[in-house]
Amino acid sequence: MSTIVFQVTCFIIYYASTEARNVVTEYYSTDNKICYKCSPGTFWTADCKDDLSESECSPCPQGTFQSTYNIAHRCEECIVCENIVKNYLLSRTLMNCTADTNTKCACLDGYYFEKVYGSANEWLCKTISVCGQGYEVIHKATNFRDTVCQECGRGYYKESLSSEPCQLCSTGCDNGTHIISPCNATQDTVCSQVKENVNDGAMGRNNRVDIIILIACSIVGGLCVVFTVLCLYVWIFRKRTIKKETNSEPSISTYVDGPSDDDTTSDEIQYDWMQSYRTTAENEFDWTGLFQECTSKPEIIDQWEHFTRMLCINSSQSSKADQIIVETTRAYDQTRIKDRVYNALKSWKEKCYSVDDEYMFAVFTNSFYEHQGQYMQSLS
Ligand SMILES: *[C@@H]1O[C@H](CO)[C@@H](O)[C@H](O)[C@H]1NC(C)=O
Ligand SMILES: *[C@@H]1O[C@H](CO)[C@@H](O)[C@H](O)[C@H]1NC(C)=O
Ligand SMILES: *[C@@H]1O[C@H](CO)[C@@H](O)[C@H](O)[C@H]1NC(C)=O
Repeated sequence: MSTIVFQVTCFIIYYASTEARNVVTEYYSTDNKICYKCSPGTFWTADCKDDLSESECSPCPQGTFQSTYNIAHRCEECIVCENIVKNYLLSRTLMNCTADTNTKCACLDGYYFEKVYGSANEWLCKTISVCGQGYEVIHKATNFRDTVCQECGRGYYKESLSSEPCQLCSTGCDNGTHIISPCNATQDTVCSQVKENVNDGAMGRNNRVDIIILIACSIVGGLCVVFTVLCLYVWIFRKRTIKKETNSEPSISTYVDGPSDDDTTSDEIQYDWMQSYRTTAENEFDWTGLFQECTSKPEIIDQWEHFTRMLCINSSQSSKADQIIVETTRAYDQTRIKDRVYNALKSWKEKCYSVDDEYMFAVFTNSFYEHQGQYMQSLS
C-alpha cells in the first residue's frame, strides 16, 4: 500500500457533497490542505491534490472492510464467526462481511452471546433461560443478554416453566366447594374437587349404613336382654316351685311314705334348694331356713341320726355325733320328729363348727348328697 503523500493544493470546492454527508469528513493534510476522507468501503491512499477535494482512496480487498469515513491506510480484517465463537457449532453467520460492514455473527435460536471472561473478542453461545414457576419475563433475551425474570406480582401465578406471563388468580371457588389452598406465585387457588352437597349425600349414605348397623345391634342386644330376663324368670319360678313343693308336704305328719317322684329328680335341682339358702340379707347363710326345710326331707326325717353322724364325721367331729343324738332324742319324743331333725342339725352346727360358714355349708351339702345316695340304695 502506498504511503506516499501527494501534497497537491486543490481549489475546487464541493460544497454540496460535504454538507450532505453531515459528518466530519474533512481533515487537514500535512501541507494544510482541507481534504475529504475516504468513504466507507475504501481506504486512504493519498491526500487530495487540491484543497477541499477528495483524497485518493482504494476499495477494501475481499475479506476486509471499512465501515466509516476514514483516512486509514488499510481496511480491517473481517471476523470469521467460527474463529471468535468458542462453541461455534451453536453459532451462525448472520451477515457475510461486505466492504463497509464487518461480518455479523449470531448464536442459534435459544442461545445468546456471552463474552469469555477476560478475553478481548472471544464468545460463547449460552442457553437462554426460561423463567421458572412463579417467575415471568420482564426483558426478553437478546443476542448478547439472557432473559430477565421477575417474580409474579401479588394476585398472579405461573405454574409452569415457560415464557408465558403470570396469570391472574381465580377468585374463590364454585358454589358447593371450598378453598383448599389459596393462590400464591406458583399455584392458582385450589378448590375442593367434590361438591359438598354430593359429599353430604355420601355422608348420608354412610349415616344410613351406621343407623342400620345401630338398629341391628339394638335388636340383637334387646333380644339378648329379653332372653336373659326370661331365663332368670324361669330359673326363679322353678326355684320357688320346688320350694313350694317341698314346703307343701305335710308339716305335722311324723310319717312319710318314702321319697316322692319329686325327690328322685336330678341332683342339680336338689342342689338348687340348698343353694337358695346361701345368701340372705342379714347373714351369708340362712341356716335356720335350711334346717327348717330339712324337717320336710324324707331322707333326713327317716334317718336323721345317720345324717347327723355323717355331718359330724365330715366336719371332723365324729365324737360329737352320739352326744347330739342322745340329747336330741331326750329333749323331743318320737312324735316331734321335725323338732328332732331341726335341733339335731342346729346342734351339729354349734358343736362341730369349724373354719367358717362357707366350709360348714360345703360339709352340709356334700353330706346331704352322700346321705341321700345311701338312703336311695337302702330303699331299693
Ligand atoms: C455467506 O457466504 C457464503 C459463501 O460465500 C454463503 O454460503 C452463505 O450463505 C453466506 N451467508 C449469508 C448470511 O449471506
Ligand atoms: C352461587 O350461589 C349464589 C347464591 O346462592 C348465587 O347467587 C350464584 O349465582 C351462585 N354461583 C354459581 C357459580 O353457581
Ligand atoms: C404455594 O402453595 C403450595 C400449596 O400450598 C405450596 O406447595 C407452594 O410451595 C407454595 N408456593 C410458594 C411460592 O409459596
